[in-house]
Amino acid sequence: MNPPSPHHRWPQRAAGDAPGLGYGADYNPEQWPREVWPQDIRLMREAGVTVVTLAVFSWARLEPAEGRWDFGWLDEVMDLLHEAGISVDLATATASPPPWLAERHPEILPVNASGQTLWPGGRQHWRPTSPVFRAYALRLVEKLATRYGGHPALAAWHVNNELGCHNVHDYSDDAARAFRTWLRARYGTLDALNHAWSTSFWSQVYGDWQQILPPRLAAAPVNPTQQLDFKRFSSDALKDHLRAERDLLRRLTPDIPVTTNFMVMGGGQDAMDYADWAAEVDFVANDHYVVPGPQALDELSFSANLTSGIAGGRPWFLMEHSTSAVNWQQVNVAKRPGELARDSLLHVAHGADAVCFFQWRQSAGGAEKYHSAMVPHAGADSDVFRAVTALGRTLADLAPVAGSVRRPARAAILFDWESWWTAELDSHPTSRLRYRQEALDWYSAFLDLGVRADVITTRADLTGYDLVVAPVLHVVPRALADRLTAFAEGGGHLVTTYFSGIVDENDHVWLGGHPGALRDLLGIRVEEMAPLLDGESVPLDDGGTGTLWTDRVKVTDPSVSVVASYAAGDLAGGPAVTRRPLPGGGSATYVSTRLGPQGLGPLLARLLDAAGIRGDLPAEVAGEVELVVRTDGGGDFWFLVNRTDRPVQVPLGAGKLLVGEQAPAEGGDTGAVLLAPRGVAVVRHER
Ligand code: GLA
Repeated sequence: MNPPSPHHRWPQRAAGDAPGLGYGADYNPEQWPREVWPQDIRLMREAGVTVVTLAVFSWARLEPAEGRWDFGWLDEVMDLLHEAGISVDLATATASPPPWLAERHPEILPVNASGQTLWPGGRQHWRPTSPVFRAYALRLVEKLATRYGGHPALAAWHVNNELGCHNVHDYSDDAARAFRTWLRARYGTLDALNHAWSTSFWSQVYGDWQQILPPRLAAAPVNPTQQLDFKRFSSDALKDHLRAERDLLRRLTPDIPVTTNFMVMGGGQDAMDYADWAAEVDFVANDHYVVPGPQALDELSFSANLTSGIAGGRPWFLMEHSTSAVNWQQVNVAKRPGELARDSLLHVAHGADAVCFFQWRQSAGGAEKYHSAMVPHAGADSDVFRAVTALGRTLADLAPVAGSVRRPARAAILFDWESWWTAELDSHPTSRLRYRQEALDWYSAFLDLGVRADVITTRADLTGYDLVVAPVLHVVPRALADRLTAFAEGGGHLVTTYFSGIVDENDHVWLGGHPGALRDLLGIRVEEMAPLLDGESVPLDDGGTGTLWTDRVKVTDPSVSVVASYAAGDLAGGPAVTRRPLPGGGSATYVSTRLGPQGLGPLLARLLDAAGIRGDLPAEVAGEVELVVRTDGGGDFWFLVNRTDRPVQVPLGAGKLLVGEQAPAEGGDTGAVLLAPRGVAVVRHER
């Protein structure tokens, strides 16, 4: 897990007056006539709502013209919520600038790689590096902090919203200036930059900082290290905006914790290095939306697990997810019965102490009118609202879970933003590689075997883990190679895959044969990478099938055993999976091809056996049920999540059922937990 942030402060009032789990939504009263507000409050109470996020997109209503402020409506809403015992996570409202600001200062508008301005009309049309935007935004933050800092409903500050959702890569002149400043700080001299960027290649040697640009649309692929640094810079530029708002808030309202909603989720949101951002907030908050597909549930679990990892294992805040369909996918699938609660509770299992939705009331107009909500178009007399209310009761029953931490697993998957960014740059052996997918495939294999695994980042402490899988760990600076070596030499079992250990932090290849940084540890040498064409596959002699990638692997250390070989084609007889045992009892395994979620199962089972790791649930339900454990001083909470569409029974043992249904006990047995299709149960085990 990430080292815990020194600033972790949970919003005390997020769960209302009583200690427990928070429950709520983004609330947009400004989109509705005043008469609807009391009805909203009544329904919120009925649903068990304890906290709402307000004012996310309210700038135009708070400051309708420059310097003209209108807080009356927000005062009233804050008071109404407070009277109802509902707390407020108050947004700083800077996410979407009002029309007057873009009209007066078009220089705040972002510019894409082709030099086109991104115009107002949508949202988040501002340059992260614009000093003009920053000044206007901070003025608004100051107004809000001064006005509401002492309001009894205020539980937390919500900086901006999903920083970088639409504007992360800005190629404007402001961005160019800030990029140069960032590069000077990183490299100090142009010589150092020219070296890091390998600028002798294609005649790119820089003689003046002014010559350096963001990676704008060019005639040929742009310098890869320039692209990588621009990704690092873009993440940092938004982090800088977060810090600017946060610092002002901390100065004006030191007692109110500050957060912003991250986007650890599937679907391609890779631009913000949240492992790096986590230390900037008082508590981690995340948004998650399900992308339908065969691994959709596994992906939710993976994201929640990773969020817990970057939060240092401590409770985090699920700021947004959906009660049912979203509006921004190609086909927006409605959730099936049970999924609303299951998805929410799986986040809680992985450490969420607050469960919020986008949004409270489904809008009648605007771009998101087909996005689900707690109160749908159909109104409160609807299955969605009934499911929302039932979930509110379940979360109240789970009050004892609040504040407990996720119990670490013995196995972990290493996830790294730098490797994600770099492995998917252009001009590589294949453009088909998907970094996050490979990590998710390993995670699915763990789930299918019924074995818990943490998703951790390269900042995490590896001690305590017996098995660490580092899929496509492409960027391996010397210090990381040393840490991984120390882990394996200290008795840990390390597994890594194709396209790992290839480059250093400057995206320079480690020479002498791949995977340069890990070659000695693995006891192998790859002379050539040999990716596969679409639709091509290679059989392995253990019955497995490789796709996407192969390597021409040579074993260099006689102690290495070949776990599986290629069984056909040019590589027939060549090693596909190798394992080097280490004197301290650990090992280093290399997997040179993509086996996919199902294909990884048999291999992972062997790796787990060697590491002495077993699942905690009986074999007959392993794979059907995901187990996540949270723990407090007195014992453990076992979250049992039915991954199937069938009912499943899990022996209850000595546990006490907090949530879920118990199957009748027969004879002398202790009974079983009856999980409905897609159902969740929570069992308390006292120590
Ligand atoms: C994001 C935003 C919300 C809303 C949802 C829709 O998470 O933060 O304002 O647009 O997407 O899914």
